Amino acid sequence: MSQNERTFVMIKPDAVQRGLIGQIISRFEDRGFTLVGAKFMQIDDELAREHYAEHEDKPFFEDLVSFITAGPVMAMVWEGKDVTRQVRNMMGATDPAEADIGTIRGDFGLDLSRNVIHGSDHEDPGANEREIGLFFDEDELTDWEQIDEDWLYE
Ligand code: RTP
Ligand code: MG
Repeated sequence: MSQNERTFVMIKPDAVQRGLIGQIISRFEDRGFTLVGAKFMQIDDELAREHYAEHEDKPFFEDLVSFITAGPVMAMVWEGKDVTRQVRNMMGATDPAEADIGTIRGDFGLDLSRNVIHGSDHEDPGANEREIGLFFDEDELTDWEQIDEDWLYE
């Protein structure tokens, strides 16, 4: 496939509990992105600390680790043109109260620490590959070509 950028996306425990998995996945499908990996799982303490290592000195770190390990998450890898940046745009601002209506956080969230979804930071080069590697083995990702690709991309 020609558009092979990949990013890591995770539907957080709040959204799983609130029954939002399907609606959120639909948004990425509707946009034209391709799902290449998915894992419904509960994150353990060690993985949570590694995933959010950049925040380990922040005052909210322990609460963030408790929250992200508190219930199952839907971890995914999505592929497509400019996918890392586009997913962040679709997610909206970190604080759902500030996120534009129409974004995932703006439509489904209200509270900074219950903000529905994670996506790799497009301003941190390599964050997508690093996070994919943290959650998925290479043989858990599936290369495939969606039938609409010739009409989605020029
Ligand atoms: P994420 O990593 O979860 O996708 O969120 P993000 O990039 O939009 O925001 P980031 O700065 O990486 O923050 C990670 C998560 O920490 C919580 N947070 N709490 N209390 C606070 O001031 C505060 N700031 C951030 C948020 O839940 C955010 O998703
Ligand atoms: Mg982040």
